[in-house]
Amino acid sequence: MQKEDSNNVVLAVTGGSGAILAKGLAEALLKTGMTVLFVCSRYGRMMWREELGEPLETAMDEWTDLGNVITFNPGDLAAPIASGSFPVRASCIAPCSMATAASIATGVGSNLIHRMADVAIKEQTPLVIVPRESPLSPIHLRNLLTLSELGVTVLPPMPAFYKYPSTVEDVVYDVTQRTIVAMGLRESLPGSLQYRPKRFET
Ligand SMILES: Cc1cc2nc3c(=O)[nH]c(=O)nc-3n(C[C@H](O)[C@H](O)[C@H](O)COP(=O)(O)O)c2cc1C
Repeated sequence: MQKEDSNNVVLAVTGGSGAILAKGLAEALLKTGMTVLFVCSRYGRMMWREELGEPLETAMDEWTDLGNVITFNPGDLAAPIASGSFPVRASCIAPCSMATAASIATGVGSNLIHRMADVAIKEQTPLVIVPRESPLSPIHLRNLLTLSELGVTVLPPMPAFYKYPSTVEDVVYDVTQRTIVAMGLRESLPGSLQYRPKRFET
């Protein structure tokens, strides 16, 4: 099977703030009909409980109704997604902590998230990271530039102010749809997210 024909997509979650983005992305990816191969770091899990007020398992129980999801332990370096021989269409890390970005950029990664990203880069399959930090230090910027130069899409969760978002859900929807387009799973953004100059509105 060609990797671009695979039904597998990877969603990795790390300990940057923004668990709501990870939740929105998991649901949006499941709605595409793809099998979601899910891995969450220890701090990603902690952030989930802090920011969403529920353990990750509560959401995972709901995902089984939405589609196929397979979960891996971040310490399991023998998981299929640790190998380039396993077909994966596209991968994303959302939110992506600066620690994870640094590990991937320097190639000294130690967990399954770092390894699957290393594999995506070497196999040249789409990898999107949604970094979360502010302000960004020169170290962060250098690591993000390294990843961008390696073909990784660096997609910060910046609100599309020109679409006048009024809720966090608006921002999450925009970021998740952009991520799905960047992963190559959808050709373009939904019409409601596309820029339309006011003079073209009827
Ligand atoms: C409450 C809290 C918020 C954090 N927010 C961020 C963040 O937005 N971005 C970031 O890069 N790290 C953040 N961190 C630090 C990471 O969680 C930490 O560097 C961790 O080692 C990341 O590991 P991981 O990438 O394996 O999940 C935060 C930590 C805590 C406890």
